Amino acid sequence: MTHMHQALAASNSIVFKAAATALRLAALLAPALLVAAPAFAQTPEAFKGANPHEGEALVKDRQCDSCHAQKWGNDGRDIYRPGKLIRDVAQLRKQVSQCNTGLNLNLFPEEETDIAAWLNQSYYHFK
Ligand code: HEC
Repeated sequence: MTHMHQALAASNSIVFKAAATALRLAALLAPALLVAAPAFAQTPEAFKGANPHEGEALVKDRQCDSCHAQKWGNDGRDIYRPGKLIRDVAQLRKQVSQCNTGLNLNLFPEEETDIAAWLNQSYYHFK
């Protein structure tokens, strides 16, 4: 019986230690979450759940910029300017789609959204 008791006491203290560790972790992570929150708050509704990193990779992969560069010079990214052709999130999403379908780049709709999310994050900054 004493053996059982000791075993129980030992396992209880393991549980306690695990709980204490979890609490300490939560205390460490809480400030990081608070700092991250405003960044999430600025993501426009249309880009919730999109993956901008994937979008950036796709822009490189499909060589969007090399075509834009032929017409606009430099690295082709001067074209990404809010206020001329593109005035809001919907127009940005639509233009990405137009370049995609018009030029047969074969992007899926989710990929267009990822790209638009990345362009918005990096250049357009629509709210
Ligand atoms: C073969 C050439 C070509 C390729 C490839 C191309 N585009 Fe374009 N893109 C254009 C042209 C031309 C315009 C200007 C359209 C206009 O003025 O009506 C444009 C305009 C844009 C604009 C609007 C810029 C602004 O603020 O006015 C965005 C955004 C854009 N393209 C994104 C992309 C993305 C993303 C890709 C790759 C997935 C891509 N384009 C591939 C030719 C291309």
